[in-house]
Amino acid sequence: MRLSSRHLLGIDGLSREEIALILDTAESLAEVGTRDIKKVPTLRGKTVVNFFVEPSTRTRSSFELAEKRLSADTINFSASTSSFTKGETLIDTLRTLEAMAPHFVVIRHSQPGSPHFLARHSASSIINAGDGAHEHPTQALLDAYTIRKHKGRLEGLRVAIVGDILHSRVARSNIMLLKTMGAEVVLCGPPTLLPHSIELFGCEVAYRAEQAIEGADVVMALRIQRERMTAGYFPSLREYAQLYALTPERVRTAASDVIVMHPGPMNRGVEISGPVADGTESVILEQVTNGIAVRMAVLYLLAGEAGREETTA
Ligand code: CP
Repeated sequence: MRLSSRHLLGIDGLSREEIALILDTAESLAEVGTRDIKKVPTLRGKTVVNFFVEPSTRTRSSFELAEKRLSADTINFSASTSSFTKGETLIDTLRTLEAMAPHFVVIRHSQPGSPHFLARHSASSIINAGDGAHEHPTQALLDAYTIRKHKGRLEGLRVAIVGDILHSRVARSNIMLLKTMGAEVVLCGPPTLLPHSIELFGCEVAYRAEQAIEGADVVMALRIQRERMTAGYFPSLREYAQLYALTPERVRTAASDVIVMHPGPMNRGVEISGPVADGTESVILEQVTNGIAVRMAVLYLLAGEAGREETTA
């Protein structure tokens, strides 16, 4: 079993078997993180460029750590420290990077489709680390890994995703992944923060947090993405929190073994209360830890695909 592409551009296009392969591989590679010397030689001699045009704490640092644990050489650059600030275009930036012959480019960009654009023009393997409000595939994979670790399965689980679905790449990738793997997904938020044609996602829709959370096996809060909002989507943060925040009272109505997730960064007191974020049901920091093994698995499997293309070219 192998991946069908040398790029990871989204969950869209990944089969159930490919998702399971990535999660199983991550499970094996997680062991590296428990060793005294947390390093294997798998990507020795390979170069990875981490190209983050949008800010990131978790994704960027865990990609870098994953690359280092696999012994790759890494180069990091961001919009503010690159010639982007001098007006260099994305394609010229890519050509400049290509001249250094990296094996992988991990890209985060505010424009949906930027990783797909790069993949069409690049000899490197492109990994999407979040493109606008479109997709964030490695986040969905690490979320699925975390759920599977706690529940032993994805199939048949009721997963409530509550918050700003409209602007969330995490929601899009999670919906596709969870539905592909046979979970039941319920989406919840104010009507203004749910996408038009939401019925096309094939999920249950709830406008009240209580309806979404009751009986859920997994509750995932999404950040209110004020940086992507071009209008007033709700009267005030206070009112939003009253109606949609994950509070201890609401979480108590979920399944007795519920896990609470958040991709981060959190707006405490807005989409999630402090006691829930830090409570016993919360797996939010575990999600961060699991991101390293999942990103190692993605790099490892894509390196195999790129290697096969090189030898068959
Ligand atoms: N979840 C996530 O993408 O976090 P960062 O923006 O910190 O990478």
